Amino acid sequence: MGNGVSAIAAHGVRKRYAGAREKAALDGFDLEVQSGTICGLLGPNGAGKTTAVKILSTLLQLDEGRASVAGFDVTTQARQVREHIGLVGQYAAIDEILTARQNLVMFARLNHLSSRQAALRADALLEQFSLTETGKASASTFSGGMRRRLDLAASLIVSPSVLFVDEPTTGLDPAGRREVWAAIRSLVAAGTTVLLTTQYLEEADQLADRICMLKEGRVIAEGSPDSLKSALGGDWLDIVLRSDNDISVVAHLVKPVAQGDIDINHQDSRISVPIIDRTKALVAVAMALSEAGIEPEDLALRRPTLDEVFFHLTGPTGSENPLEVAS
Ligand SMILES: Nc1ncnc2c1ncn2[C@@H]1O[C@H](COP(=O)(O)OP(=O)(O)OP(=O)(O)O)[C@@H](O)[C@H]1O
Ligand SMILES: [Mg+2]
Repeated sequence: MGNGVSAIAAHGVRKRYAGAREKAALDGFDLEVQSGTICGLLGPNGAGKTTAVKILSTLLQLDEGRASVAGFDVTTQARQVREHIGLVGQYAAIDEILTARQNLVMFARLNHLSSRQAALRADALLEQFSLTETGKASASTFSGGMRRRLDLAASLIVSPSVLFVDEPTTGLDPAGRREVWAAIRSLVAAGTTVLLTTQYLEEADQLADRICMLKEGRVIAEGSPDSLKSALGGDWLDIVLRSDNDISVVAHLVKPVAQGDIDINHQDSRISVPIIDRTKALVAVAMALSEAGIEPEDLALRRPTLDEVFFHLTGPTGSENPLEVAS
């Protein structure tokens, strides 16, 4: 696959689970992922992320629509699709009794490598994922981050051109999350196309070239992290005060940098200000507070949360209001 070629394409995919009385899990799902990029499929519980991954990796059949991976149709060329993909499921697939190295050798043998080839591949992957030193320990002793890295390593035994990773860091602490992010970045540097699902906007932001926001089986917004965020109103500056007394003074002071409605929470003595230019806003507010002789408990920049993103996209009543985002 050359430049500009879609490694993953889905058009109008519908899937309703047998016996499901509710809506379809995927309901007109469209997706296009360019070769050699990371796409983040973002959505809350039940949005259809795992269903999409299962259909694209041929574990599940679609009811309607079309999808192809690495140029092969998932319905009519499932075997070829499987030969070109790796899959890291939502729940770890490693064997706890085995060591990290034994796990990798086992996966390699299952992929028809000779025992010598399997040992070489296992050692190379242990090194790539910084697991060499712990390779001899039983996987049951591994931290969550190490398990996920081992899971990733196992999915790369045969160097897939497209890798699906379903919620790689759910339940991990920040250090574990960073370890997994580094591992995924190194894969893409080596040319693999990655479709990653996540519930965390920050994760998609850190890793993805493009983000697709999924809600009730449909993509409701799509774009680069930056374009998506600016369409969603940029960042927030949070100011937590030592008491509620100064809140109206501070609300007045921050007005010049506010790019929309200021959110005031009296209970927590917190003011949240929508901003665009992070550094300028932070400096201006810090100076204004200092001049007024007000020392805040906390002053911090933050990205919109997934909740806020969805609130912006769907509105308070939950009315569907698809957002066009420029690339
Ligand atoms: N095997 C199944 N049988 C019936 N319904 C299912 C099955 N698997 C998923 N669903 C339903 O399909 C919808 C989409 O589920 P899916 O697992 O794809 O969501 P998800 O985005 O991966 O969620 P999560 O973040 O919780 O993993 C949900 O309403 C879910 O209840
Ligand atoms: Mg899921």
